[in-house]
Amino acid sequence: MPTFRLTQISDPHLARRLPTLTDNFHRVSEYIDTTRPDLVINSGDLAFDGPDHPDDLEFAKALHDALPVTCRYLPGNHDIGDNPTKVCPPPSQPVTEASQQAFLSIFGEDRWRFEAASWCFVGLNSMVMNTGLAREAEQFDWLASQLSAVGGKPLALFLHKPLYLNAPGDPELAATAVRYIPQPARTHLLEMFGAVDLRLVASGHVHQRRDFTRGHVRHVWAPSSGFIIPDRKQEVIGIKEVGLVEYIFQPDGFEVRHVRAPGQVDVDLDSLRG
Ligand SMILES: [Fe+2]
Ligand SMILES: [Fe+2]
Repeated sequence: MPTFRLTQISDPHLARRLPTLTDNFHRVSEYIDTTRPDLVINSGDLAFDGPDHPDDLEFAKALHDALPVTCRYLPGNHDIGDNPTKVCPPPSQPVTEASQQAFLSIFGEDRWRFEAASWCFVGLNSMVMNTGLAREAEQFDWLASQLSAVGGKPLALFLHKPLYLNAPGDPELAATAVRYIPQPARTHLLEMFGAVDLRLVASGHVHQRRDFTRGHVRHVWAPSSGFIIPDRKQEVIGIKEVGLVEYIFQPDGFEVRHVRAPGQVDVDLDSLRG
């Protein structure tokens, strides 16, 4: 039976000036060198501050290029800027045409679809949603055409932000709306994926490990590979630890393994700004 081994890493937030995060990435790299999955997906926040420090994106790409396994990438808010929402103040770093182009010029892609082990895998640029930029509508058109070609295969979706906390209709709150896919893009996405056999939604962004199932869909929040956010800045929802997620896909299902690379350290965000 065909098997596809995929490793998800997320939120390494790399920058030359932050060696503790680079150290954590090296521990992840060594682990990937040992385990040799078929593919590595980084679900975003590759850079510590891509919009204001373009070298952070270059540095992150160089470290990923050194991995012994093919990588696919998705942008996070610290790579290209954040989404506007109806309930929060406008983001201090909004997504722009220029920030998207900077990401694309370095990483080559911000969305993708491929098939393996009789599964379909889709990665989306969640940061462009609700921006009104041309790439938002273009991505929804692209997604519609991609989903029409799935042909009944089970589907795994990857994006930077989780779809929601517990349920599609969770209200958007000013304190937390930037944590999830904003409305109305969330509803639009769920309607589109309601037409296919969606089994997995894998995300990053929150820097907490979480794994829950709603209906037929398993939601996996990958932890940051780099740092945790202290409780006084962010409530505990799942598990605050650094690590990564391994998946094994086969035509009749998939397994999820929550792991930490040997030597990874729970770096606290406060220690990076001291
Ligand atoms: Fe992050
Ligand atoms: Fe993020």
